[in-house]
Amino acid sequence: MRKSALLSLMSGAFGGVQSLAFRTISQSCTGSFTPISAAAAFAALDPGWNLGNTLDATPDEGSWNNARVQATTFSQIKAKGFKSIRIPDLQTYDKNIVTWAYHFVDSSPTWTVNATWMDRVETVVDQALALGVSVILNVHHDSWIWADVTASNANLTQIEEKFTRLWSQIGTRFACKSSKLIFEAINEPPGSTQAHGDELNKLNDMFLQAINAAGGWNSQRVVSLSGLGMDTVKTSQFFVKPELFPNQPWGLQFHYYSPYDFVTSAWGKTIWGSDSDKAALVSDFQLFKSNFTSVPAFVGEFGASPVTTEPAARWKWFDFIARTAKSFNYPLILWDSGADDFNRPANTWNDPVTLDVWFNAAAGINNTLADSTTDPQATSQITGASLFHKVGEPVYSQSVTYLMNGNTLTSVKTSAGTALSSSQYSMPGGTLTLSETYLATLYNLTSTPGIKETLTLTFSSGTSLTLQIVQYSTPTMATTTYKIDTSTDLQMPITYAGLPVVAAVKAILTDGSFLVDDWTKYLGPLQQGRWSFGDWSCDKGTFSVNVQGLQVMKAANQTVTLTLEFFPRSLGANLLNITFTQ
Ligand SMILES: *[C@@H]1O[C@H](CO)[C@@H](O)[C@H](O)[C@H]1NC(C)=O
Ligand SMILES: *[C@@H]1O[C@H](CO)[C@@H](O)[C@H](O)[C@H]1NC(C)=O
Ligand SMILES: *[C@@H]1O[C@H](CO)[C@@H](O)[C@H](O)[C@H]1NC(C)=O
Ligand SMILES: *[C@@H]1O[C@H](CO)[C@@H](O)[C@H](O)[C@H]1NC(C)=O
Ligand SMILES: *[C@@H]1O[C@H](CO)[C@@H](O)[C@H](O)[C@H]1NC(C)=O
Ligand SMILES: *[C@@H]1O[C@H](CO)[C@@H](O)[C@H](O)[C@H]1NC(C)=O
Ligand SMILES: *[C@@H]1O[C@H](CO)[C@@H](O)[C@H](O)[C@H]1NC(C)=O
Repeated sequence: MRKSALLSLMSGAFGGVQSLAFRTISQSCTGSFTPISAAAAFAALDPGWNLGNTLDATPDEGSWNNARVQATTFSQIKAKGFKSIRIPDLQTYDKNIVTWAYHFVDSSPTWTVNATWMDRVETVVDQALALGVSVILNVHHDSWIWADVTASNANLTQIEEKFTRLWSQIGTRFACKSSKLIFEAINEPPGSTQAHGDELNKLNDMFLQAINAAGGWNSQRVVSLSGLGMDTVKTSQFFVKPELFPNQPWGLQFHYYSPYDFVTSAWGKTIWGSDSDKAALVSDFQLFKSNFTSVPAFVGEFGASPVTTEPAARWKWFDFIARTAKSFNYPLILWDSGADDFNRPANTWNDPVTLDVWFNAAAGINNTLADSTTDPQATSQITGASLFHKVGEPVYSQSVTYLMNGNTLTSVKTSAGTALSSSQYSMPGGTLTLSETYLATLYNLTSTPGIKETLTLTFSSGTSLTLQIVQYSTPTMATTTYKIDTSTDLQMPITYAGLPVVAAVKAILTDGSFLVDDWTKYLGPLQQGRWSFGDWSCDKGTFSVNVQGLQVMKAANQTVTLTLEFFPRSLGANLLNITFTQ
């Protein structure tokens, strides 16, 4: 019945291209399918994990093999407590191959997907489904590779044709999978105008037609439809509920990387957690909810990388977003590029505390949180995730403060699992004081800088927290003067002397003006003139500026000073200058 209805549609509203586009054999499935509402299916996603791209995150091609998807990766994800896996594309799966875009074996009008590739995708999806987790399968980077309706040379007819053909084939291959498989039309489609929004609404419709034409259980399968950029505002502005297939269980998702500067470590924003930071987050969620009161929805991507964000601020952010998302009934799916959260080759989590904070908060359990600076006007940043001792200073007892949220401390243990004795620490209220005698076992005036110990604090409820004890001085570089050469990314060896990360980079010209983003003068003292992340980056032994960043410096036609700032941050201190001449 469905098929004949569709055929009339095809010969009516749509032209010849469409009938070809839907050239699929509507199939019937053996076995059974457990119908589920979109609301129930989405509720079952929480918490979720994205099998994110590793191509843009790993330092070199050679690391690729480590990132191939293994069934063990999914088992580890499940064992950690995740209930769903979003499979954005399988970039991680095969060297030199990125998304569906490069898997077509012919072109218009058939756009046949490489069968070997389809097999691989099915294998990976099956591995996840076999574990009992929910799976969201989408069309991902295609959104900017060939399906970008904003491109100046965009051929909308061809985008529609190709998109439909792609979903016909995915829909056919996955038609008989269980109701734990959710289809997502397209990831973060670019666009900003009514015309772009209209075109996307059309693509959502075509997606529904394609999967329904493919048959199987697809007419009952839950789908996640797409809004422009998957952002709260543009989705609210332009998304219109598809007219076709009124019985299809559907919902929406949005992606949340806000505040952008904090989650991407841009413009020196290493602090988060003021009342206005929190209000902004609630207001973003509220805006979406108000526009889509009765539409089931989830947060398909969110995250703040443990590699670059300051831990105490990050824990606060995860605690707050998890509580907020729960209050709005929006499941959260973590974006994990492969270099951020789960270390796939090692099967370890880079910061398990972040996950514990999230999961406890989502369960409504109070977490103790490390206190930290939240005032945007602050001139130094204090954090309860690290205790810093400067080389050259005598050893003295030190304190760290916590937001107890009703909890009490139950133990302090070393990384070897030894409990500290009551003479080594005290904790009246929210202030943990470590004795001079204990700290003297970790460092002295002249000890080599670095992380000397990571203590674990356990509380009466909620997450345990780690406290890094760090001996620090100012990092050094063998070369601090460079002539700007825009031919290749510039990688500068750096010897850290404390935490192995660059906290922020200030970029100043000889005449005192900022290299870029003059508007940052309106930000707090720790953010003025700081460069956005992306043009610079760091890893454990290197500070890098990419070609794009070098071009910006070249265009300035002046000597540029980059001031690298480290944790603990304090205005004018703990920094290292690099000079770039024209
Ligand atoms: C399909 O992909 C496989 C694996 O990458 C490759 O060996 C094969 O040549 C491709 N087939 C076509 C027709 O391109
Ligand atoms: C646009 O795409 C359609 C379908 O592939 C094709 O027939 C047409 O020639 C294309 N138009 C241009 C201007 O390339
Ligand atoms: C819906 O979203 C639009 C666009 O962001 C916004 O202007 C409007 O205030 C929102 N409506 C409600 C009721 O929140
Ligand atoms: C949880 O924390 C909040 C905020 O600090 C506090 O008001 C509440 O009493 C705490 N709940 C428990 C059970 O301690
Ligand atoms: C500091 O500790 C190191 C061993 O870590 C030791 O060799 C050195 O003598 C100590 N220095 C002082 C001033 O106590
Ligand atoms: C760069 O600045 C010098 C003066 O310092 C000037 O002579 C030259 O024309 C400038 N070059 C460009 C490309 O603006
Ligand atoms: C680093 O450069 C800035 C100018 O951008 C200057 O104010 C500061 O004194 C320099 N600091 C050091 C340690 O050289």
